[in-house]
Amino acid sequence: TSILILNGPNLNLLGTRQPEVYGSETLSDVEKMCKTHGQALDIDISCLQSNHEGALIDALHAAKSKFKGVVLNAGAYTHTSVALMDAIASVSLPVIEVHLSNIHARETFRHKSFIAPVALGQICGFGSHGYILAIDALVKHLAGSTA
Ligand code: DQA
Repeated sequence: TSILILNGPNLNLLGTRQPEVYGSETLSDVEKMCKTHGQALDIDISCLQSNHEGALIDALHAAKSKFKGVVLNAGAYTHTSVALMDAIASVSLPVIEVHLSNIHARETFRHKSFIAPVALGQICGFGSHGYILAIDALVKHLAGSTA
């Protein structure tokens, strides 16, 4: 099984970006943790980050033929992008939405997610551990059991 970890805008700045909100680990730390976890589960983890909406859409299109599922932190595009929502609906790949912070405990504009209606589920508020939870949920889903 192969899973894509896709991160959106400003997540390249993890570690230095508002560490009180997003933690002190860098994106590279988070990606390494995901890959290590993948090895333990005997699954292939690939990681990609882009600050560009179109590049994220291209990555989702390309993921269809390369991966069994996607863990997506779309950053602020979560709250704005009908195009990303349409891309997820178009590729019919299981996508799990992740946010480091609890978006529902923050500003009202972060409560709305365009990703949530087309995602398998949403994990938020657990920091970088959310990516691990998402990988586990995706693996379990792909194995045919969501219980
Ligand atoms: C985020 C939450 C978003 O509201 C914000 O725009 C981000 C990061 C998170 O991981 O908590 O860029 O997706």
